[in-house]
Amino acid sequence: MTSSDDRINYLDHAATTPVRPEVLEKMLPYFTEKFGNPSSLYALAGEARYGLDEAREQVAAVLGSRTSEVVFTGGGSESNNLAIKGSAGLQQTSNGVRGHIITTAVEHHAVLHPIEQLEKMGFDATYVGVNKTGRVDPEEFAAAVRPDTFFASVMLVNNEVGNIQDVATISKLISEAAEHHQTRVLLHTDAVQAAGKLSLNVDELAVDLMSLSGHKIYGPKGVGALYVRRGVEIDPLIAGGGQENQRRSGTENVALITGFGEALALAEQERAASRDRMGNLSNRLIAGINKRIPNAAFNGSHTDTSRVPEIANFSFPGVEGEPVLLGLDFKGIAASSGSACSSASLEPSHVLLAMGVSPELAVGSVRLSMGRDTTESDIDDVLEALTAVLDQLGTYPVGPSES
Ligand SMILES: Cc1ncc(COP(=O)(O)O)c(C=O)c1O
Repeated sequence: MTSSDDRINYLDHAATTPVRPEVLEKMLPYFTEKFGNPSSLYALAGEARYGLDEAREQVAAVLGSRTSEVVFTGGGSESNNLAIKGSAGLQQTSNGVRGHIITTAVEHHAVLHPIEQLEKMGFDATYVGVNKTGRVDPEEFAAAVRPDTFFASVMLVNNEVGNIQDVATISKLISEAAEHHQTRVLLHTDAVQAAGKLSLNVDELAVDLMSLSGHKIYGPKGVGALYVRRGVEIDPLIAGGGQENQRRSGTENVALITGFGEALALAEQERAASRDRMGNLSNRLIAGINKRIPNAAFNGSHTDTSRVPEIANFSFPGVEGEPVLLGLDFKGIAASSGSACSSASLEPSHVLLAMGVSPELAVGSVRLSMGRDTTESDIDDVLEALTAVLDQLGTYPVGPSES
């Protein structure tokens, strides 16, 4: 996409993505002719049930799991809530204390807020900090395990800065710590931003629970999944007809679920090829910003193994993110100042603050997140536009322009 045509130069794929044509095609019959309730017995219902089963197989194949371990939900937020509150719901009260949860300071609000709700109900929580690239130290994380710890949650890829947490090492260390304290700690990972970017193999990551969402991977909004390892008990948030193996009642949204299954399967197929292309685009973006805007601060990790290339986050001293985003929007470029839900407020991002970024720099942050359609010329356009916007804002000395 170039600024010379009418298409938006969309650099906010971490916020959401468009439904890809193959996914739309997959879903359409389930809105119309294959509309049956998958729980009914006649042939029409069988078609819907087949769609549901196929999607569950597609998801299980990507996770390396059993189909019975996949629970379809209404998206990433619901999956996180189900994992956290569903595990907490089965905790016994001991001396008025309801158990301890460990998480990190940089999780999405869909993890932090349910944990805060549990704290109000008498649970205890530890929020482990991160270093300046956004990474949590697995040893420090595991050191937080106590005899009453029953649950830990650490995201695989951060939505604001793209850093990757070492979930497999965290899993190994917390299992050892749990054994030492003679307790069992369930490990949950929010992998919403990791799908299509990293392996989601649940055995390699050694997680008990994993959250996924459709709309970050060119699938529909309002659908996702929670992986629940066999033997792990969770209390349903939505009780009723007992669908999804008693873990999420409500007639299944078959059309959206088939779209989600297809989107995840396609994302996984294209993962390896996409990685190199995204790496090149990311290098071009970062090098371009460094050259044109020498005072810009890159928030996150430069190493390939600790950041996904699709997400890059910068702070521009002396400006706030909002006018920069409005200026970019005026030039046909869609970007974000952090997570979509916090972009409406001027509060500095909790992720950047946890990484030690000053509040002044944190409010001047811009997240650029690339996707399947992003081209080198889109990157060149954003570099041009960003330089011009910062220049117009007049608060910032910009470097020489690239011809
Ligand atoms: C890391 C992460 N977790 C959870 C969510 C919530 O997913 P959903 O929008 O499907 O509820 C998001 C979406 O922004 C996310 O980036």
